[in-house]
Amino acid sequence: MNEIKKILIKESDIKRKVKEVADTVTADYAGEKLLAVCVLRGASIFFADLVREINLDLELDFISASSYGSGTSSSGEVKMIKDLSEPIAGKNVLIVEDIVDTGITLSYLKKIFATRNPKSLRICTLLDKPSRRKTELVPEYRCFEIPNEFVVGYGLDYNERFRALKDVCVINEDAVK
Ligand code: PRP
Repeated sequence: MNEIKKILIKESDIKRKVKEVADTVTADYAGEKLLAVCVLRGASIFFADLVREINLDLELDFISASSYGSGTSSSGEVKMIKDLSEPIAGKNVLIVEDIVDTGITLSYLKKIFATRNPKSLRICTLLDKPSRRKTELVPEYRCFEIPNEFVVGYGLDYNERFRALKDVCVINEDAVK
């Protein structure tokens, strides 16, 4: 049985949309500095492509947060594995994620970051699965809204596999178990 069931979003469509969202970010923060924060590991590939299309005075930082659990389900708890390297007080902060699913991870990160007095705080996600939301979280920027299917590729994993695929794909869960 094939492990990849289908391509959901192909490389060329991702590229076009990433440029479009980057242009919107550039316009929205015109004349301002921006700190782009990559949430490792899933957002790494999207982040690298996005920041190179944003035409602003940019700083980059990286955090690692993980929801507990493996496979395709999240348990609802978040742990901070690596915090930011620099303070964010007074800065425009854009948190860059690969996917907002339940919204638990980003609600947690937003709450922590908000206590550090940034000038502004927004979220940019590659994928948004609003049907799975368990919090009020709405990302300010998103590339694609997707249905409730388990996706991999372009940074997203299934038990750490498939992150380096160029397309966003749906896996055949029976085949990868
Ligand atoms: C994934 C993803 C988000 C989070 C989204 O991270 O990168 O951070 O889950 O889910 P939520 O909206 O339900 O909280 P994961 O914990 O799998 O770590 P990874 O980025 O290293 O793959």
